[in-house]
Amino acid sequence: MDKIVVEGGVPLKGRVAVSGAKNAALPVMAAALLAEGDHVIRNVPDLADVRTMGRLLTHMGCEVGRGVAGDPRAAAVRVPGSVRPEAPYDHVRTMRASVVVLGPLLARCGQARVSLPGGCAIGARPIDQHLKGLAALGAEIRLEHGYVEARAPRGRLRGATFVFDGQTVTGTENVMMAAVLAEGRTVLGNCAREPEVVDLANALLAMGARVAGAGTTEIRIDGVERVRPLDWAVIPDRIEAGTLLVAGALPGNDVAVEGCVPAHLEALVEKLRETGAAVDPIPGGLRVRGDGRPRPADVRTAPFPGFPTDMQAQMMVLLALASGSSRVTETVFENRYMHVLELQRLGADISVDGKVALVRGVPALSGAPVMASDLRASAALILAGLAATGVTEVRRVYHLDRGYERLEQKLAPLGARIRRVAQ
Ligand code: EPU
Repeated sequence: MDKIVVEGGVPLKGRVAVSGAKNAALPVMAAALLAEGDHVIRNVPDLADVRTMGRLLTHMGCEVGRGVAGDPRAAAVRVPGSVRPEAPYDHVRTMRASVVVLGPLLARCGQARVSLPGGCAIGARPIDQHLKGLAALGAEIRLEHGYVEARAPRGRLRGATFVFDGQTVTGTENVMMAAVLAEGRTVLGNCAREPEVVDLANALLAMGARVAGAGTTEIRIDGVERVRPLDWAVIPDRIEAGTLLVAGALPGNDVAVEGCVPAHLEALVEKLRETGAAVDPIPGGLRVRGDGRPRPADVRTAPFPGFPTDMQAQMMVLLALASGSSRVTETVFENRYMHVLELQRLGADISVDGKVALVRGVPALSGAPVMASDLRASAALILAGLAATGVTEVRRVYHLDRGYERLEQKLAPLGARIRRVAQ
């Protein structure tokens, strides 16, 4: 199992490019199931989670390859006429996002058998809203032997109105994809507005689906008989971009993050400015400079356009070095403070009470061996290692590799002393 070793305290300076968004690529790959034929999905990051989705599609009978006619960053997915509509436990257990195949399978095959995801390091993460939405479209759903067994009576779902109880990103994606081939009109209320939902809706439009309203809380889908294969480039990863922006905002750093979409990063940029970082637009991206010790700032996570829960751990590293106390409130997930204990090992002064973490800034962090608990926590520990004095070893980096494309290779050219060590 690899570990990442960081020698901290070295200023970062330079330019770094953002990869395609994991959380856009995964549902768009699942959307390919809606149409038989050859699909091309571009700007797909080379990540463990993407490979897991590739294996899952292969299990269903698709042929999945990387690299298409001169575009090494594209994924090719050949979807057969007859798909095996099943997502086994081993795939779903490795990656919860596998559950986004449920909607397209049900739409295309009239039936699906998808393992229930089970527990997760950041909270309970139920999928009740996915199932309620699909049931509203007429799906008959049973939970048996750890699997969701779903069927569309007479083989086709029918359009309906459904309002989600709470905003869910993959839930919105699942039900939206299911509605694409349903009979008649579907109106979905209280939808997630994340840029990844919008990207998926745009990809579906390119397939010939009739989808309107993505990016607002109401999405309307007029069902069609069939859709065509896809050629789509997914959006840049706003969470990878955000992680690199926080790196730039650490004291003494100056980083240009290229190929990101500033409109996807507004809540984060506002908070970085509040801490005193200078954030300026550059062509195709943002430049951030961390000038001296950060100022404290209160942060409350919320669905888009609020401050992303996927940036909470990384932001906490900056606040851990602030010249005062900050309150961080996690409202999206119930248990997303696993990184706090590890940050404490580096000398951070943070106490957690329920949803709220009180971060009392310290003048410096000091390197130590730490253990990653989930994807975004791993990125936070690497940022902390960059800012700390001495050596930080981050173990269990397989969490990092699920969602960041060789982060150490992006940071090293900026001057970071960072290397991966195989163990
Ligand atoms: N929820 C329910 N019932 C449901 C679905 C969700 O109660 O049926 C709750 C969840 O327990 C949570 C909240 O609703 O408290 C929001 O969860 P959501 O469904 O929006 O999360 P998700 O779709 O499972 C996606 C991202 C996550 C990201 C969240 C929130 C993908 C593949 N994953 O998850 O990304 O944190 O939205 O923005 O898009 C990551 O990349 O590190 C990651 C965890």
